[in-house]
Amino acid sequence: MRVETIKHYESKLPAHDPHPYRTGAWTPNVTEVDAYDLDVIDGEVPRDLSGIYLRNTENPLFDAITGRYHPFDGDGMLHSIRFEDGKTSYRNRFVRTAGLLAELEAGGPLWAGILESPELSKRDGWGARTRMKDASSTDVIVHNGVALTTFYQCGDAYLTDPTTLAPRGVARLHHPSFAEGTTMSAHPKVDEATGELLFFNYSAEAPYCHVGVADPAGNLVRAIPVALPGPRLPHDMAFTRRFAIIGDFPLFWDPAKLAQNVHRAKYFPELGSRFGLVPRDGSGEVRWFSADPTYVLHFSNAYEEGDEVILEGYHQGAPVQERTADDTPISMFMKSLDMHAMKARRHRWRFDLRTGATREEILDDECSEFPTLHAGYAGRKHRYVYAAIGEPGFFLFSGLVRTDVETGAKSTYRFPKGVFASEAPFCPRDGASDEGDGYVVTFTTDMNEDASECQVFDAADLARGPIARIRLPMRISSGTHAAWTPLTARGIGNTTDQ
Ligand SMILES: [Fe+2]
Repeated sequence: MRVETIKHYESKLPAHDPHPYRTGAWTPNVTEVDAYDLDVIDGEVPRDLSGIYLRNTENPLFDAITGRYHPFDGDGMLHSIRFEDGKTSYRNRFVRTAGLLAELEAGGPLWAGILESPELSKRDGWGARTRMKDASSTDVIVHNGVALTTFYQCGDAYLTDPTTLAPRGVARLHHPSFAEGTTMSAHPKVDEATGELLFFNYSAEAPYCHVGVADPAGNLVRAIPVALPGPRLPHDMAFTRRFAIIGDFPLFWDPAKLAQNVHRAKYFPELGSRFGLVPRDGSGEVRWFSADPTYVLHFSNAYEEGDEVILEGYHQGAPVQERTADDTPISMFMKSLDMHAMKARRHRWRFDLRTGATREEILDDECSEFPTLHAGYAGRKHRYVYAAIGEPGFFLFSGLVRTDVETGAKSTYRFPKGVFASEAPFCPRDGASDEGDGYVVTFTTDMNEDASECQVFDAADLARGPIARIRLPMRISSGTHAAWTPLTARGIGNTTDQ
């Protein structure tokens, strides 16, 4: 392995930091490197795996203004591995957001974090709450050969070259009808059938939500208002051939507190949930379907079948946790990031376009979240979903599971104790014609060995364990969302770096 240090940053986090999401597997990285000819520890790197795996990370350099840091405040950092002809190379870079650059120049935090009052921010900023830093640390996807990183409270979509990780500015997708600083939420989607980019945003200004459609070249062609009853907190969207789907869940900023500019999420189960089917072509009204109360972080997919629109995702049995006598502010904070405490379960909603009725069912008794699937099946009927299994008590992934949604059969792999994975997309084998023919790729953070690996799994047999283990140049922080782009995707693969 050949390693080049690109840039070293000075961390201004406290010495002997006690924060559970800035230590251990969440210890931030402060050095950007390029690494070539990575060492294979075990197995063999498949020669028919050609593409780039990208993973975003909340990677703070500064403490919160009041010290009340939330892991979703951390600055975006991309980690990537490129596979080509059985060889691999690795890179990591901060997402060079306007907020990070301003804080680096100021030498300290300028914007209040999610647990702090926006009034503490020293400058105007971004986000549905307003006056936040757009950390661009939540999600990453690739559209039109360019990686887009996004922030779950909305902001800009930052563009990055997926091969070099060089910054390419921000996507020009703001529409005058969008609230200032809320161009795009996390979880935009690519429809591979049309090449379009679908995205949404939300804010505290009526109509509170929009869906955006960009053409295959990344130009905004449509901004569709989605009127909600008030400010809501959707995290993900789904789409079918004709519709974008937005959730209106009864977990949102308590209006009584919001009137005092306090952003505190409260659960109103008596309101139930609603799903809006938004015509992608901008014609016609949004059609709303009622459903049982819940909150959904992530959808796995949606598709149309006959007169039904079918949506799959992760229902939460406990979107908010009751405070018990033993609970402390720290224990409540830890529970708020634990998919087991949320009781996340694979779920299916069926919306009958003829009658307006909804049918829904829980599909799995076991907890999982962070779904991925063959990107070519997004918006179409799929058979396989890959998801992460959470480490109880922590926002960390200790296992991966593939589910055959037709039969319910699962293939599960659990990492050794102290080893944590990241979101693991499906990566089609070169030339594959079958939906399930390919690999699953993840980064690990190994607290036993103080090291990180990229691990490649046979998608059809996760239970077998990794078929290739590739050493990364350093232990990397755990993170959030990830993406896979084949080298054959539009705009990628012409620049080789090996
Ligand atoms: Fe997410």
